[in-house]
Amino acid sequence: MSIKKRDEFNHIISDILKIDKFSSLENELHHGISRYHHCIRVAKGTYLITKKMHMDYERATRAALLHDFFTDDDTKAYDVKETFKKHPDIALINAKKYFELDAKQENIIASHMFPVCNVKPHCKEAWITSCVDKVVALYEMYRFKASLVMGAWILFIFNMITIQK
Ligand SMILES: [Fe+2]
Ligand SMILES: [Fe+2]
Repeated sequence: MSIKKRDEFNHIISDILKIDKFSSLENELHHGISRYHHCIRVAKGTYLITKKMHMDYERATRAALLHDFFTDDDTKAYDVKETFKKHPDIALINAKKYFELDAKQENIIASHMFPVCNVKPHCKEAWITSCVDKVVALYEMYRFKASLVMGAWILFIFNMITIQK
């Protein structure tokens, strides 16, 4: 990302990052990294694609950042399967507490888990965020898994060396 685009991206999302509840996502584990960084990654992907395609990229980027705006505490009443389906609605409720969203932004957040959730993307921006989220999630899970495997190998080699001595 160019410096100009990075500055614009940071400007678009800066007020959201200042919200305490949003910055608390740094402590929430999501695909092996923090939910905060996952949201930023999805927002960045949405920003780059929607800007390139001359869409409503500012609103789309903000909604993409808020797509997983929930803490584990918000979903403690649900099991993993229910959380998987319901967290877009919870993220939308949280986002609306802090920000004024238009219908498109609400749809971007509520439909990002489609087809797992019942809300279908109604605009191109929502389809883009939903696809970016899936690609980013796969990448993060793969990276986390890869580092786990590497960690296990390092431990194994370390044990072998210390046993030899
Ligand atoms: Fe999500
Ligand atoms: Fe996500």
